[in-house]
Amino acid sequence: MVVGELGEVIRTAGLTKVYPKADAPAVDGLDLGVRQGELFGLLGPNGAGKTTTVGMLTTRVVPTAGAAWIGGIDVVARPTLVKQVIAVVSQQNTLDRSLTVRENLYFHGLLFGVPARQARRTADELLERFHLAKWADASVFALSGGMAQRLMVARAIYHRPAVLFLDEPTAGLDPQSRLALWEILGELIADGQTILLTTHNMEEADQLCDRVAILDHGRVLALDTPAALKQGVGADTVVSVQADGDPAALAELLTREITGVTQSRLTGAGVELQVKGGGANRLLPRVLSAAEAGGFAVADLSVAEATLETVFISLTGKELRD
Ligand SMILES: Nc1ncnc2c1ncn2[C@@H]1O[C@H](COP(=O)(O)OP(=O)(O)OP(=O)(O)O)[C@@H](O)[C@H]1O
Ligand SMILES: [Mg+2]
Repeated sequence: MVVGELGEVIRTAGLTKVYPKADAPAVDGLDLGVRQGELFGLLGPNGAGKTTTVGMLTTRVVPTAGAAWIGGIDVVARPTLVKQVIAVVSQQNTLDRSLTVRENLYFHGLLFGVPARQARRTADELLERFHLAKWADASVFALSGGMAQRLMVARAIYHRPAVLFLDEPTAGLDPQSRLALWEILGELIADGQTILLTTHNMEEADQLCDRVAILDHGRVLALDTPAALKQGVGADTVVSVQADGDPAALAELLTREITGVTQSRLTGAGVELQVKGGGANRLLPRVLSAAEAGGFAVADLSVAEATLETVFISLTGKELRD
């Protein structure tokens, strides 16, 4: 496997997919690089083009234009070779239901040409490492969603892929299973595994990823570390206010009266302000007295730190979740 000049394991150049009969491209001229050993996140709302991007990088979807390389290998020209150096955990459960938990790993090893004894040893090591040893001889039907997901990740890394692709790995998992998976991903990264994951969970992207590309309508709106993205919006605090009266007038009033407001918007529930330097200086009492002095009776007032959702909102004017 070849690692590019910048230590990149994935590189795309103008990567584009237009599905037949679609009005707009699903992925539109994507240029990005993922470095070796990095946990890279594609963050975006439903329909942003995350799965299509993963599909093209993993050879399942044929690009309409542009190019992509994994470890220097052209994904369009050499799909068979690319498939040997990657692993994918998709949004669906792809375990073999006629096999036990251990057999799902063991036969995968045989399929990759590993001799039987070693295949069994590696299977057992992986079961141990992914906290599934207790279930080795159980049917995969016995596994919870979280355990099935761990088994799919174990199977995916069996042949030590250059890149592990995870499409929405924690969607539908309960919080405990999600934490267990985050922990495993942390261990894989500590081991040097390069991972590309997609998510529409901004907290997940924030906590896990070294760098994040924010996607919408198939385009990259911003790409950086979570910390730099949050700094880039120029606000460290988000204040939500609900009050009687015209929300637009309230937004205007607060933007005028409160120092450090960089952006305001109307939400279903009231007004949301992005504030720079809002962490200090008694922000809540200031908002409260400004609103009440302007004749608004405040029903609810809360303050939170800027998140990747704040970044998404300031880039698109809309929320990440429906
Ligand atoms: N096989 C397909 N044929 C036609 N259009 C498709 C196909 N797959 C996806 N699309 C469209 O392409 C766009 C991007 O879809 P994609 O599945 O890549 O988004 P996503 O970011 O993974 O969304 P989600 O969060 O819902 O998984 C959407 O408008 C979708 O309707
Ligand atoms: Mg998807």
